[in-house]
Amino acid sequence: PLHDAFAARLIDWQRRHGRHDLPWQNTRDPYRIWLSEIMLQQTQVSTVIPYYAKFLARFPDVAALASASIDEVMALWAGLGYYSRARNLHRCAQAVMERHGGVFPVEPEQLAELPGIGRSTAAAIASFAFGARATILDGNVKRVLARVFGIEGFPGEKRVENAMWALAGRLMPTSAASNDDVSAYTQGLMDLGATLCVRGKPECGRCPFAVDCVAQATGRQRELPAARPK
Ligand code: ADE
Repeated sequence: PLHDAFAARLIDWQRRHGRHDLPWQNTRDPYRIWLSEIMLQQTQVSTVIPYYAKFLARFPDVAALASASIDEVMALWAGLGYYSRARNLHRCAQAVMERHGGVFPVEPEQLAELPGIGRSTAAAIASFAFGARATILDGNVKRVLARVFGIEGFPGEKRVENAMWALAGRLMPTSAASNDDVSAYTQGLMDLGATLCVRGKPECGRCPFAVDCVAQATGRQRELPAARPK
């Protein structure tokens, strides 16, 4: 069944066709990875890139960000939107200094206790920075899983979301996977959802899962994932 082949096929696809040169890739610095993931939460890559460069130039590490004034952080964030992210960014930097001695914790559960870091963002940071076998589940990943595995129901509904977390956990690479494999897997989930398995017009002809995909087999790409019930 597809379950067993999913991780290996996704990693292979990511290495050949995924994105490799984004400014926050090719680092294992949790500070840089965290900063990128917060900026990318509700904002597209092309918008984030100049802000990311600006923040890193002004705040090269978590100590520099923590000791800045909130006014300066807000001024640098201006134009990115969703400003609660900037307040939480600053609060998170201070919490890393105070609670963790300036070192980001390794465990996803501990990361998720920090301001602005939810379960999926914690998993993204842990997998990219530390090679942790922790699964992400953002809107893009929900779309991929709903289509490939034919998951019915609105993913904003708790019962459906819980089923997706469980499935995402089962699809992870095995514990024999290297840190690089785990990072490629996580990036592959993001890239598949962002580049091929898109909302409007998915490019099933280039998808590594097209032969197994429930949505593709039944022509239901437009109906999966299900919309919010009226
Ligand atoms: N969206 C969220 N995280 C991302 C990442 N690491 N690369 C590209 N897009 C993303």
